[in-house]
Amino acid sequence: IPFSCIYLEYIFQLLSDFMRQKLLLPGKSLYQALLDSVTLCNDSVKLQIVSEKNKVPLLVEIYAIDGNIFRLKINEISPLKSRYEVPDVLIKNLPLRAQKETGILVLTCANEDCKLHITANPFQIELESKGETVLSVNTNGLLYFEHLQPPPQNRCDISYIPQCSVCDAENQEDLGLWQEEFGSFLDIKANGPSSIGLDFSLHGCEHVYGIPEHAETLLLKNTSDDDAYRLFNLDVYGHKIHDKMGIYGSVPFLLAHKPNRTSGIFWLNSSETVVEINTKAHVPSRSPPAITKQRVVPQTDVRWMSESGIIDVFLLMGPTPFDIFKQYAQLTGTQALPPLFSLGYHQCRWNYEDEQDVKTVDTGFDEHDIPYDVIWLDIEHTEGKRYFTWDKKKFQHPERMQELLKRKKRKLVVIIDPHIKVDPMYALYSQAKKKGYFVKNRKGQDFEGICWPGSSSYLDFTNPEVREWYADQFAFKSYKGSTDILFVWNDMNEPSVFKGAELTMQRDAVHHGNWEHREVHNLYGFYQQMATAEGLIKRSGGQKRPFVLTRSFFAGSQKYGAVWTGDNIAEWSYLKISIPMLLTISTAGISFCGADVGGFIGDPEPELLVRWYQAGAYQPFFRGHANIESKRREPWLFGDENTRIIREAIRERYTLLPYLYSLFYRAHTTAEPVMRPLWVEFPKEQETFGVEDEYMLGNALLVHPVIEQKATTVNVLLPGSDEVWYDFRRFRRLDYSGTLKIPVTLESIPVFQRGGSVVPLKTTVGRSTEWMTDISYELRVALDSKDFAVGELYLDDGHSFQYLHKKQFLHRKFTFHKNIFSSSCADEIGQYHTKCVVERVLILGVQKQPTSVTVSLQDGKDKEVVFTYDAKTSMLTLEKLLLNVGADWEIHIK
Ligand code: NOJ
Repeated sequence: IPFSCIYLEYIFQLLSDFMRQKLLLPGKSLYQALLDSVTLCNDSVKLQIVSEKNKVPLLVEIYAIDGNIFRLKINEISPLKSRYEVPDVLIKNLPLRAQKETGILVLTCANEDCKLHITANPFQIELESKGETVLSVNTNGLLYFEHLQPPPQNRCDISYIPQCSVCDAENQEDLGLWQEEFGSFLDIKANGPSSIGLDFSLHGCEHVYGIPEHAETLLLKNTSDDDAYRLFNLDVYGHKIHDKMGIYGSVPFLLAHKPNRTSGIFWLNSSETVVEINTKAHVPSRSPPAITKQRVVPQTDVRWMSESGIIDVFLLMGPTPFDIFKQYAQLTGTQALPPLFSLGYHQCRWNYEDEQDVKTVDTGFDEHDIPYDVIWLDIEHTEGKRYFTWDKKKFQHPERMQELLKRKKRKLVVIIDPHIKVDPMYALYSQAKKKGYFVKNRKGQDFEGICWPGSSSYLDFTNPEVREWYADQFAFKSYKGSTDILFVWNDMNEPSVFKGAELTMQRDAVHHGNWEHREVHNLYGFYQQMATAEGLIKRSGGQKRPFVLTRSFFAGSQKYGAVWTGDNIAEWSYLKISIPMLLTISTAGISFCGADVGGFIGDPEPELLVRWYQAGAYQPFFRGHANIESKRREPWLFGDENTRIIREAIRERYTLLPYLYSLFYRAHTTAEPVMRPLWVEFPKEQETFGVEDEYMLGNALLVHPVIEQKATTVNVLLPGSDEVWYDFRRFRRLDYSGTLKIPVTLESIPVFQRGGSVVPLKTTVGRSTEWMTDISYELRVALDSKDFAVGELYLDDGHSFQYLHKKQFLHRKFTFHKNIFSSSCADEIGQYHTKCVVERVLILGVQKQPTSVTVSLQDGKDKEVVFTYDAKTSMLTLEKLLLNVGADWEIHIK
């Protein structure tokens, strides 16, 4: 199939389920609570609500979860059959806590009281903190729940559809209750209509974020009738920019922010979901009439609608952005700690042709003195797109090839897609077929669709047995030609089905447990990555951290590895949009994310390629990738000058690795996003709330990549009136905040260090991360207006789980206070032996030249330190220090 034709079949239409829901207009809710049904347990309130239309009672359960979270579940009391409740996303053992008061569930926490009020008629919920309403539920009366019905036959009962009076069989079809047409596809709905919906009001908020993945702005926009944000994982080649249609991944998590509070809504549903946003000026009903005029405040109403499942929603009360990240991670887990190599630079293209090509590209990096860690093989490396195999002609000796890479301390990543070629001679296929491991069509046969190999079946990763079997395929004895430096890339796992409706699997396909595909659609890629990561851990006997990149993702995918933004285009607008896209993914819990450097489709002009490398060097996942039709674009193919600048950008990435790795440790342990929007660090500074052309890398570095063609200046917002900022490369202190016009050349990567921080770097780079283990550290200390700075360094072996099981790690804290710069232990539990030293300390913002600098070591001995002071930049440089990075020491500046 010619690639470009595949995408012509693209059809998008709003599901009838949502059209039916949209017949329900804002107003008084049809639901009321039955007061005599209320039961209060230790951790929850349960009650029934009933719609005045259809009188079918629903069970409402509200749980208070430790850490300022409420969970609201609404389901049928006795559905005809069970409705799908998303498994495997929530991490186990949610700590629950609640106290009873009459009619009110009270959650107490150390520094704040949140109260949840339930109103019976109409049924509404209000969450309040310190007397202020933060969030309310069903305020617009849009609670919608289609209870399961027996198939119509001769029935004429659609009374459960609110505000719908039509009642004949034909109309039932029009409404898409039992079947629906998508172009030439017919979707038979085994359970009939089962959609759900609910509205939320975020009081005082006009800034809302999250719900990736869309090629859209950081701030969510108001939606109009036909352009709600859609969460439905799809393979969209060269996806459009500023489009709310779903692309590869979905995280149904929305954040709302105002200066004194961040809150969050996590809508746990894996079927197609749409989210409508409406920000407006609002007059709170409770304010006394006399002051009504002044009390106009913003309010954002958010309406969620899903095709099926139940209402299961978590309301996160913050109050700070970092509390929100913790609360969300408490539910879905934190970012897996990546192996260090995966934070290096990755070189990919579709395809590196054969073993010789791999060798030549690998050598090219050495010849051009450019570090890199991983070379990637796309689908053409396989025998006819049969994953877990090698093309016998092009890759005759895969082990030898990997041995060569291993000697160079580098890794290989290969692609493994979820579709399996229908070929009885292909062992993976025949085994899976025999075991019944494929997704079924509605007739009960193995589902077959077209993908890269031609006719393919799709492994049913929702089945734990299939995941276990799949994980076992990565064992070295099963996966012939694989070695311990081979890691994995899961692509096409939305799942992509060429010629399928919207290029994906039919919704009436059937999964394990008899669940229809519509229920689990957005989870498919999540499960594949889970099984792959498990396989890589298993093959190492539980010893080594996996690396798995996935294109499709869901809430919680952060536990299994990295994601990238799919098939972008080599155009400036795609470089630009990659920043808000990555920020949105990061705030939705997935820190390890990146966009194809250079743009996947097409051929970037050299300037764009250079700028993309510079941007990528300061983003979490850093991979150059190109389409099969794109020209070769290894970093040295664009003339000496461009090669030099790209080399510099990549080298800069490598010197930054200690800082980056420490940030990932924080993401892993305390759920702080590695790449974060400005508002997260400056939650009270209104001017940061919509910024999406710059971001913070951790709390210390502000990055403003150049994303305009032929730029000679960039306008950088340096936020915070009492902050001090320093040019990260020229060390100049910038004593003013606000927007600055900064001159740039092609070499510039505008990066600024925040006063008050310490950034650990390596003093030089090696050919890959593994070559750099013993390279000494430089500490970049940037003083704030009070001459203070603090920072940290995390360090371990970079590849195993010993940091977890044996506490083999170092976590150091560096503090500059009262002219003493000290190194102390940040976590006594960790132990890790290293010979590595701190060689250089640069202190930015030192007002006057010191007369002496001495260092005192643990053994009580003092030593003079050689220093230089540059009055122009107020920088003090201490060199040849040779201080063990694991030891306590103090540097005294007099
Ligand atoms: C689509 C992916 O998005 C792209 O990165 C990859 O190169 C092709 N599939 C071929 O595998």
